[in-house]
Formats: sequence, structure tokens, C-alpha cells
Amino acid sequence: MTESHHDVLIIGGGAAGLALALEIADRRAVTLLQPSPDARGASRWAQGGIAAVLSPCDDVEAHVADTLVAGDGLCDEAAVRFTVDQGPAAIEWLLSLGVPFTPDPDPKAGYPYHLTREGGHGARRIIHADDATGRAVIETLERHVGAHANITVRHDLSAIELMADTAGHCRGARCLDATGQLHALLARDTVLATGGASGLYRHTTSPHPASGEGMMMAAELGAELMNLEFQQFHPTCLYDPEGTPFLISEAVRGEGGYLLGADGERFMPTIDPRAELAPRDIVARAIDTEMQRSGLAHVWLDIRHLGEEAIRHHFPTIHAHCAARGLDLAREPIPVVPAAHYSCGGVGTDLAGATTVPHLYAIGEVACTGLHGANRMASNSLLECLAFARGCARRLAEGSTASTAPLVERSWGTQRPSREQIGELRDAMRGVMSTRVAIVRSDAGLDEAAHALAEIHERLAPHLAEAAPDAEAASLWHALRLARLTVSSARARRESRGLHHNPDCPLHADTPPSPSRIHLSALHVP
Ligand code: SIN
Repeated sequence: MTESHHDVLIIGGGAAGLALALEIADRRAVTLLQPSPDARGASRWAQGGIAAVLSPCDDVEAHVADTLVAGDGLCDEAAVRFTVDQGPAAIEWLLSLGVPFTPDPDPKAGYPYHLTREGGHGARRIIHADDATGRAVIETLERHVGAHANITVRHDLSAIELMADTAGHCRGARCLDATGQLHALLARDTVLATGGASGLYRHTTSPHPASGEGMMMAAELGAELMNLEFQQFHPTCLYDPEGTPFLISEAVRGEGGYLLGADGERFMPTIDPRAELAPRDIVARAIDTEMQRSGLAHVWLDIRHLGEEAIRHHFPTIHAHCAARGLDLAREPIPVVPAAHYSCGGVGTDLAGATTVPHLYAIGEVACTGLHGANRMASNSLLECLAFARGCARRLAEGSTASTAPLVERSWGTQRPSREQIGELRDAMRGVMSTRVAIVRSDAGLDEAAHALAEIHERLAPHLAEAAPDAEAASLWHALRLARLTVSSARARRESRGLHHNPDCPLHADTPPSPSRIHLSALHVP
């Protein structure tokens, strides 16, 4: 095992990790792990945009109020205000770096860049770069990170666990390179920016979903996990069981797209006065119900009435992608289905991204800051990445005393875990989560899931007991335990709220809403 020393170690090269690297690099030396260009991380795939109060017709109170409503009573208002307040400055910062946001062609518009709408937003407040905003933001941030002398980007290392010392402080991460060689990266401060846990499910909107690895790495050091039961399903992923996942942005509905059932009729207006622009939990559940009712494996999304020119102008990426799959958005409705998209829960943090473990921070989807509550409002997540990157950078800039307690040692076996076995157990876990812990849950289904996941756990554990360090095996180990904690959190919530819908307790509880909190010790296994 090699050993090296670092000042700030950022694990994850999506929007949160890259933004933090740029925000802190003038004050402290940064090492950023970004395992591959496709690296797990959903930011690159975000289409719609970034929510911020930019139009003169909008205001901070309205953005705060919409976020609180979408979060179904579970948001932490301080986190919502902290995030929303920073919206305009965050967008100015991105513009100063050169992000190519789409201009508004209307000279009478009150803001020079086009603002679109998405579910839950009462105003046009989503700034975007065509329909590939995540890619534009990531490529711009990467360019600046690559040029900064105080940032070292490592594409060759994947973190498999965090290192702790006997005082309980985080001291960095153990990482693997492509040859299987272990590297201990000792760091004064470590920041997780590893993304969410949609990879616990079979169908996701991202081709390379994270499976909660960062959440469990933090939990292993004693960090508290919050709100795991609130897994968001995006209402409209292109239905194509054989193809790679492809998101159809909520902005398509924001610009007027209709959802049609098997009979070709709109079903959302009878369900919610906001129709197709109701918050995501409501729309995804309505689609799920419509699919059960009709027996069809998808519903339809129809944007033909916008006209071919407007469709090509607003949605060039989606139009081209659908065309490559033989679908013409301008001439036919396209088949769509909900898919796992975003984890509203994660590692509990304060407004600086600090976890309960000294010297360990978490920002972006891996974190649970209180912004999203029981259901994230569309396009608030890239804003959260930027706002908390800034908050975290401010805290890191204050500096801290490095812990000198001895490191907790770790030993490994020598056997290579079987690829087939790992793949088979991962599929089994995803099957359980997708059938029992998805858009609609039940007490009996959650109990079955708990039982089935415990069995998978028992089958996996002996393979790992004597195993050499292995990235795939570590990822499954993290994912499986997180799946079990997710089921426990879901079973413990005796109400339906936001993304957690259980007909066995269909209403909000009478007690004031409170976030769920869970520790790894709830599993009674290491
Ligand atoms: C979308 O474009 O619909 C995704 C944006 C988001 O999840 O916030």
C-alpha cells in the first residue's frame, strides 16, 4: 500500500466537488478524485437547469415557499433560505466562468437568459444551457479546475472507504487504482461529493448511477444518515427497456408537454390542479397508478403542439436522441416511464457541509442538508451543489487543527471476489428495491424486502471475509447495507409523505413532521 499526504481531499468530480475545488483552491491545496470521465455522478446528465431567482417578476420568498410545498412539510427552512438566497450569486459566478447559458431571444424579457419552468415552481426561474445544462456546467468547471495550479485531479483512483483514527476523526480515504493496488490518501479534511443512491434500483435516469457508496463510507465512521426513505423517481425517463437510460427533462412539461394515458387522454388535470407541473412525487405516483390501471408498461409524453421549430430550438439534445432511437418528438407522443433519479436523504450535514464526524464533510446528493425535505423540487439540486460548495469552502478556509491520534488499522484477505457472484447479488438487491421499495410501498412489502436483503447480505458476507480489496465488491457491500437502512427508515415512518407513499398509513402523521435519522449500528452488523 502506498501512502501520501493531502490537505483537502475531495472525493467526487461532479458539480459539487468541482465547485468546491475552485472555491477553496486559492486558500488550500486540493486533491480531487474523479475516477473516469463518466464517473458516477449525476450532474453531467442533468438536462433542465438550475433554479434561481433571476427574473424581476420572481422573488426569494416565492422560491422558498415553492420549495417548502414540494418538500411536503419536511424541509429545514434555514437550509432552504440559505440555498435560495445564494441563487443569483451562484449563477453570476457560473456566468463569470463562461457557462454558455441559453440567451432569451425576446428583447423585452426582463432577464437576458431564457428561464424555463418545471414542476412545483410557480414562476419561470430555471436558467439552462439548451437541454444539456449539466454537461455545460461540468465541462466549464472542469476546464477551470484543470487550469488551477493548486488542484490535483486524480482520474486513476477510486475511494473504497474512509480512514479514521482512534479519536474518531476522519483522516482521508483508502483508494484503489486500476491494477488493484491500494493507496492510503491521508488528508487533513475530507469531503464526500460522491452522489446519491439511485443505483440501488434497476431502472435509473443515469447510465452510471452511484449506489450510496459515500453515504455508507460516512456511516462507517459513525455519521448520521437522514431521510433515506425519500428516493425520488423522475416521472419521465424514455421507455426503452433495451437501450441505455435517457432522461426526458421536466422542462418538456414546463414548456407545455402533456402526459397521456393508454387511451390517449391527459390524466394529470383530474389529479392535481397543477396538472403536469405538480411536484415530482405527485406526477410519478400518478403515472405509476395509470400504468397499473391500463396494464401498459409506460405512458405517453406529447409535445407535438409546440411545433417542430420550437421543439428543435428548446430541446436539441432530446430531439436528436429520440430521432436516433426512431422517435420523432414533433410528430408523435413518446413513451416514458418513471425511473430512480435522486436521493433526497443522505449524510446529515450543517450549512457548511460538516457531518457529525470531525474533519468529514459531505456536499451534493450524498448529503442531506434539509433543503429537499420529503421531495426535491426540480432543478434545486445543482443550486444546492453550488450553495453548499461555497458554504463548505468558507468553513474549510478557517483551517483546523489536524488530529494526531493513531490510525485505525485495517487488514485484507487475498482472494479475488467472483465477478459473477457480485453481479448476481447486485441484481438481486436491485430487484428487491425496485419491486418493494419504489414509488408505492406497503408494510408487508417492506417486511419482505427486509427479509430478502438480509438473505442477500448473508450470501455476500462470506465472499468478502477473506477478500482482497476490490472496488465492485466494496460498492455492493456499501449499497446492500444502505438498502437495508433505507428499508428500516421506510418501515419506521408511520405516515405517507412526499416520496414515501404507503397505503397502510396513507395520511400525514398527526405529530409535527420530523426527519428520520439512522446509524449503521441499526443493522447490528459491521
Ligand atoms: C430534468 O431536467 O428534468 C432534471 C432536472 C432535475 O432533476 O432537477
